[in-house]
Amino acid sequence: MRSGKKFQKLNNNKKVNLGVIGCGSVSEMYLDYLSCQKDVCLFACSDVNVELAKSVAGKYGISNVLTVPKLLANKDVDIVLNLTNPLSHSLINRSVLKSKKNLFCEKPYALNGKEADIILGLAKKSGLLFYTAPDTYLSEAYKSAKIFIEKGGIGTVFSVNVVSTCRPVENWHPNPEFFYKKGAGPLFDRGVYYLTALVFFFGKIISVSSYSEKYIPNRFYKRNKLREKISVESQTHYSSIVKFKNGVTATLMFSFDVEPNPLKTDIMKIYGSLGVIDMPTPMEYGGVANVYNNGLKKWVSVSGKKKVGYYLEGDIRGAAVIDMINELKSHRLNYDNALMANHVIKVMEAIEKSGKANKIINIK
Ligand SMILES: NC(=O)c1ccc[n+]([C@@H]2O[C@H](COP(=O)([O-])OP(=O)(O)OC[C@H]3O[C@@H](n4cnc5c(N)ncnc54)[C@H](O)[C@@H]3O)[C@@H](O)[C@H]2O)c1
Repeated sequence: MRSGKKFQKLNNNKKVNLGVIGCGSVSEMYLDYLSCQKDVCLFACSDVNVELAKSVAGKYGISNVLTVPKLLANKDVDIVLNLTNPLSHSLINRSVLKSKKNLFCEKPYALNGKEADIILGLAKKSGLLFYTAPDTYLSEAYKSAKIFIEKGGIGTVFSVNVVSTCRPVENWHPNPEFFYKKGAGPLFDRGVYYLTALVFFFGKIISVSSYSEKYIPNRFYKRNKLREKISVESQTHYSSIVKFKNGVTATLMFSFDVEPNPLKTDIMKIYGSLGVIDMPTPMEYGGVANVYNNGLKKWVSVSGKKKVGYYLEGDIRGAAVIDMINELKSHRLNYDNALMANHVIKVMEAIEKSGKANKIINIK
């Protein structure tokens, strides 16, 4: 939704100053990319773990290591990136917006629909930019597939099939506990990418039905050579069906419980009356969306000659931050991304509820 409303004037030649809160694993994926962008100044960073913040600052040449209140009070910070763990997101997001700073937040930006509405409302009321992850639907594959679908490339779309599994996070992440708490688990950690991409394609979801389980309740990881037990609070497997307002249905499986195996871990197939599209994973910006062409009897890319989205390979993040910078420089407010994220949080909340209550949940 483009309001066209003018806000906080920013000199077009000025670099945009970013303040990063949360200097853990994902921060490097952002900083590797954003440190190479011409309009960006990595101005300040902050973490409760001050030594970690200092080491990230050293690596990326960030001159100001600040406490969170000092970073928010600094008038030179244009956009705050909230890259903390999901349980910290809401509180920090409110503080950022109350400090009149533009906000980008990692996913999910709130733990429930009520909190999600408050944060979106605060951003709108203050006339501040608010973007959030996942933003991988801004990729060439997803943007070109949307255009292709809307032009009737596979006729009338009626169904989608998604499978997303992963190797156990406790085998690679330095702080894996948060993946098993509220705001994570396979639904909020992985499912959020797929649901966002599907809402981008098909619009609002009106009802959900789901089963969820915790098939592997005992999980361990190594910290300082000691074997630590993880308290698994979230469900770790979801089998769900969602229905979109436009009539499309999607069957979804999101799981942390599948043993590593040679099958593809991430599948998204879109079925229409005239063909099928095989999407790359929405967990990154790379890959190609292919449609099966019955005439040629082979898979062909849906991308046209003119590129419409980001194509970034590997473990990097930050496309939406670049979009934000462009919005900031053109003095426009755009809440499309935030409105989709707000809806997806309500959908995930309904999937949770459906799994527990064993019934279909309608979404207003
Ligand atoms: N690691 C990944 O591969 C990855 C990929 C995509 C998205 N994400 C998302 O990024 C976010 C962060 O994940 P991560 O893997 O970087 O976690 P992490 O635990 O490695 O890092 C989070 C950092 O935030 C800091 N922090 C937490 N609360 C804070 C507070 N109140 N004030 C200041 N600092 C605070 C922690 O000290 C920690 O250093 C999560 O929402 C996650 O879902 C992670």
